[in-house]
Amino acid sequence: MIIMKQIVSLLALCITALLSVWLVTESQKQSSVIDAIEARRSIRAYKDVPVEREKLQILAECGVKAPSAMNKQEWELRIVDSKEWIDGCTATYLKAVEGTDKAKYMLTPTFKNIFRNASAVIFVAAPEGRFSGVNLGMLGENIMLAATELGLGTCCLGSVQMTFAEPAMAEYLASLGFSDGYQLSYALAVGYPDESPEAKPRDMSKIKFVE
Ligand SMILES: Cc1cc2nc3c(=O)[nH]c(=O)nc-3n(C[C@H](O)[C@H](O)[C@H](O)COP(=O)(O)O)c2cc1C
Repeated sequence: MIIMKQIVSLLALCITALLSVWLVTESQKQSSVIDAIEARRSIRAYKDVPVEREKLQILAECGVKAPSAMNKQEWELRIVDSKEWIDGCTATYLKAVEGTDKAKYMLTPTFKNIFRNASAVIFVAAPEGRFSGVNLGMLGENIMLAATELGLGTCCLGSVQMTFAEPAMAEYLASLGFSDGYQLSYALAVGYPDESPEAKPRDMSKIKFVE
């Protein structure tokens, strides 16, 4: 009889433990997108650790799963995780802008490369079109939120439009192999964060309910 009681108590304990684990997992699942939105920051300092290709693939696929006008998916993504490419690109750009204001912000003690020091970069291009900006914005935010969930940092870099407009960068731009008619819109720096910046302020007065 005592053994029976002990077995029942043990079973009850196990069921309670399993239920607690399930509840925690479920609640995390339900709030994970909002959590990622709250946690995401633009990261500009990264550890010298490569990002696993499997994770980069997941990020890119999350991007492509974004909505696009008429599901035309008019975008192209190029993922670069070659240190040689990133460093070569940086050296070429620094040489091209040497002595100008463009070079100034980069010459800081923590500077590693022109992609905000990230170990991987996702370049995004699209043809010109009415909804091009909207499509690419949706794609980019999907990637950044997925990266946050995977413990990765990101920074959207609109500056690549200027960087790759330098004639000296033509070879690197061409090596991305975007289709004819596609223009580089932005890049996403991706890597393991080496900083935890505070959230930048947001102006919630921009939101109004219309009665
Ligand atoms: C279209 C776009 C272009 C951006 N370009 C750059 C850039 O070239 N360099 C950079 O360091 N950050 C860039 N950012 C990041 C913004 O500075 C950043 O999102 C903003 O300051 C808010 O900070 P948070 O992302 O940490 O919330 C860009 C963001 C967007 C959306």
